[in-house]
Amino acid sequence: MQAVILVGGEGTRLRPLTSTVPKPVLPLVDRPFIVHMLEWLKRHGVEDVVMSCGFLATSVHNVLGDGSQHGLRIRYVEEPDPRGTAGALKFAESFLDERFLMLNGDVLTDLDLTEQVAQHERTGATGTLALVPVDDPTAYGLVRLTEENAVREFVEKPPADQIDTNLISAGAYVLERSVLDLVPADRNVSIEREVWPRLVGAGLYGCPHRGAYWLDIGTPRRYLQATFDIIEGKVRTAVADRLGDTYLAVDGTATIHGRVIPPAVVERGVEVAAGAHVGSLVVLGDGVRVGARCVVERSVVLQGAEIGADCVLRDCIVGPGTQVGDRTSVTDGAVLGEGVTIGADNVIANGAKVFPHVDLPDGALSF
Ligand code: GDD
Ligand code: MG
Repeated sequence: MQAVILVGGEGTRLRPLTSTVPKPVLPLVDRPFIVHMLEWLKRHGVEDVVMSCGFLATSVHNVLGDGSQHGLRIRYVEEPDPRGTAGALKFAESFLDERFLMLNGDVLTDLDLTEQVAQHERTGATGTLALVPVDDPTAYGLVRLTEENAVREFVEKPPADQIDTNLISAGAYVLERSVLDLVPADRNVSIEREVWPRLVGAGLYGCPHRGAYWLDIGTPRRYLQATFDIIEGKVRTAVADRLGDTYLAVDGTATIHGRVIPPAVVERGVEVAAGAHVGSLVVLGDGVRVGARCVVERSVVLQGAEIGADCVLRDCIVGPGTQVGDRTSVTDGAVLGEGVTIGADNVIANGAKVFPHVDLPDGALSF
């Protein structure tokens, strides 16, 4: 089976994390986000992947290569300018098989693609959309179905007063190649706004996946949620297998003088000083240092970051190589970008975002 993954978005809402790294290769727990997707696809029989790239395409290529490391064949298509979700597919046309999967590249899910392909075959569909229930469909594509699971209506980003179902398009489709005939070449085309409406009544079906895990990881809070859900085993990933029944992975090269409370992941060469309290729901990337008496909870500290003594990190993301001075607290959705330096005695909270390589002096910020 072949899969096309759309990874052309800029990931603006995940800045400053995505200021230096594109969203698909942002580390999520212990591997690039997109690798979780590739592992999921592989479990459902995918062996051939086409990456439809735009923004920072070379770094995606550098991380994944030809895919052999993941037991896949991966090829890359780079649009000269953003073509939109259908335009990107059209641009990849010469790579595509008679039937393929198409995936939005920003979703963490374990939904059952094998079942979706089976339904697609049973109904003889031209396109089958994965559907999941969400509390608030306004940010998604709302889908109304007939009793036979044919799509009756597709409404992208529906206004709040038009919501009469909680089923939305999950961004995972089974498509016949003939769908490409509906897409004009050489311009920006939205599959959601220009293609699905035309396929209604002409072979477009929905496959509801109730009970599956599904999350669009597009914001810092959702990125943290995805991290917690992976290490708590709420979504099926290879990380859950790595953590096992203890929900804890501490690399053998880590030096731990304080305490680590699961679920937690502590990677190579990490140092946790005496009296520090790490966890639960924490990921410390390679080479991270946590100073004496720190409290780190519900947070992700990326590779090489150094946290001084007596700091509090809670519900935050600390970018790679960032330095945090003594007695500073970083809490409540704050995100520090790559290579930031925060002096001692600062308070960073309320979803504050500090952009890459910013240098904040001692005591510069409080709330
Ligand atoms: N190559 C390429 N070129 N990729 C693109 C482009 C483009 O011009 N525009 C968007 N993408 C990629 C994004 O990187 C993302 O992986 C995917 O296409 C979807 O775009 P988003 O911008 O994330 O759309 P959305 O989240 O607002 O809505 C979409 O996803 C929802 C599920 O998360 C729609 O498909 C909705 O219908 C759906 O419910
Ligand atoms: Mg999205």
